[in-house]
Amino acid sequence: GDDGYRLWLKYEPVTIPAIKADYLKYSGFIGQSSNGETIGSASKELQRGMQQLLGKSISVVSSPGNRAGGIVFKLKSETADKQDHEGYQIQLSAGNIVISSESENGLLYGAFALLRRLQMQQPLKNLNIASRPKVQYRMLNHWDNVDGTIERGYAGSSLWKWYELPERVDPRYEDYARANASLGINGTVLNNVNASARFMSQEYIVKVAAIANVMRKYGIKTYLSVYFAAPKTLGGLTTSDPLDPKVRAWWTEKVAQIYKEIPDFGGFLVKANSEGEPGPQDYGRTHADGANMLAEAFKPYDGIVIWRAFVYKADPNADRFKAAYEEFVPLDGKFDPKVIVQVKNGPIDFQPREPFSPLFGNMPKTPLGMEFQITQEYLGFAAHAVYEAPLFKECLDSDTYVNGQGSTVAKVIDGSLHGYTKTLMAGVANTGSDRNWTGHPLAQANWYAFGRLSWDHQLSAEQIADEWTRLTLTRDQKARGHVVNMLLRSREIYVDYNTPLGLSRPWMGVHFAPEPWQSRGSRPDWTATYYHRADSTGLGFDRTTGGSNALAQYQLQVQKQWNNPDKTALPYLLWFHYVGWDKKLSTGKTLWGELCTRLYAGADSVLWMQKQWDLAKVNLDPEVYTNVAQRLKVQHREALWWRDAWVLYLQSFARQPVPAEFEAPK
Ligand code: GCU
Repeated sequence: GDDGYRLWLKYEPVTIPAIKADYLKYSGFIGQSSNGETIGSASKELQRGMQQLLGKSISVVSSPGNRAGGIVFKLKSETADKQDHEGYQIQLSAGNIVISSESENGLLYGAFALLRRLQMQQPLKNLNIASRPKVQYRMLNHWDNVDGTIERGYAGSSLWKWYELPERVDPRYEDYARANASLGINGTVLNNVNASARFMSQEYIVKVAAIANVMRKYGIKTYLSVYFAAPKTLGGLTTSDPLDPKVRAWWTEKVAQIYKEIPDFGGFLVKANSEGEPGPQDYGRTHADGANMLAEAFKPYDGIVIWRAFVYKADPNADRFKAAYEEFVPLDGKFDPKVIVQVKNGPIDFQPREPFSPLFGNMPKTPLGMEFQITQEYLGFAAHAVYEAPLFKECLDSDTYVNGQGSTVAKVIDGSLHGYTKTLMAGVANTGSDRNWTGHPLAQANWYAFGRLSWDHQLSAEQIADEWTRLTLTRDQKARGHVVNMLLRSREIYVDYNTPLGLSRPWMGVHFAPEPWQSRGSRPDWTATYYHRADSTGLGFDRTTGGSNALAQYQLQVQKQWNNPDKTALPYLLWFHYVGWDKKLSTGKTLWGELCTRLYAGADSVLWMQKQWDLAKVNLDPEVYTNVAQRLKVQHREALWWRDAWVLYLQSFARQPVPAEFEAPK
């Protein structure tokens, strides 16, 4: 095996004779009639893939003329519809497979789409594929630091070797770019949102440029997170006030300096006035003032400003759930057209299950981008198998009802609901220096799923799981069935032993410690009971009119869904209601009984996952099999910890015995 290094781009030989014969008909040559770096990458990838799939050498020719029996790239002229620009078509024509697009990026995506199909050994008969991205900016956010560490990273250290750059360019950067391009990802933010000002120094700009030179070949633009107070700390100014002319001039010059080294630079990502980071509010200015100042600096260029909406106050009496809405909704319409506001899927922070953020649908005049977290900060690090596509889809498919039924979050994000001119989906990366990129071999599926959904949010979690499993683990249908089954249930199982019924958990520094009784102490709102609100009579956060009234931030139809404890779907119950321990739920059990049931069933279900994995064993690479099998053992041990920790802790409030059926055998 390759220890998972090749991800879903393994190109293992085609094994079905009739299919192979079919493919061989188009293996005469690869026709690349125009020159360009990205189209060059497309031919190179196709050549590599076809050669490995078919076991023969295939040459790239620059003028295929009327030749038949090959694969031909065709660059078409641009139409007015911007969305078509990165799309592609794949068809059979005049004895060739023709991949056409209006852009080099589109040709590259077409090549990868064809290779995906060939890897899955699908017949070419009637081949006719047309696809275009639903979202314009599809990017990864790396939370990587200058010192090589990764905030919330569980797969080794950073891929970016700052100390070697710019002279040495690790060949792995290219494999990273290939993997992303294969999914249609076209942007990458290299550094942590808790940003070091050093990235704005000439020393680092040239290092970043060396990486950007690799990314460019694969249609990926490079972005940086910025430290808002850099004019002061790096530039030596006395202020970083966004309305100060000297500060504005500093950023304008800084951006010009970056474009000198990186002509296709993507733009800035900004975390400001959030968790102690500096920002415009330090000077009595608004988020819009800050974002617009940076947008002005990008005026001569293509780049954009992505401003994060992850904000909340250190106020134990406020409801953190409401904070982003309260700060941002009044600013709707005040942002420069170059700004996209990036919103986390839920109102709190990447919890195992959250309702969708009430910002979606409530800022019709400001492009809102989606921020998902691929890295498993709250989902078991690299030890637990949690397939995230169901989580992503749950949010995207949520109905905001802002323009009546069917106003899904996906339609906010793809721009169709409010006519946004810019659209974005970002994922906080789970990659690192581990040989297999993501630590847990199955976490590769989350990178894959994020990328595929950023291109087409209508794909189903199941379809993506099946595709990934076929490309990465096994072509065997039965084995695939077991793996896909396990992947699809994994998130629900995790929720059951980690945060059942919409239970919110507090978190320690590492955010994955089964000690729900602990408080961090450094902030008055970072305490255990702030989040789950347990006491001797009940549990849960009342967000109805009788409580924080956070529900009022949603449309009436959404409020109706969640404002009555008897009608709220159980997965969201404790997100919105304070419920008595003895209250009978729709399952027929009391709250206490149901919590115990889910915590115990969730932990036990990890054994079921182990069984599914074992059923696929003979069809799996032995190294990958063992790696995952061992991690599933860790997962079970830790699931038991979580279960026991919750039961014992909540018992100290509820003062009830664990139902007899769950007692350990004597
Ligand atoms: C979470 C995470 C932090 C991160 C923050 C953010 O709170 O734990 O590490 O910096 O989100 O998204 O800004």
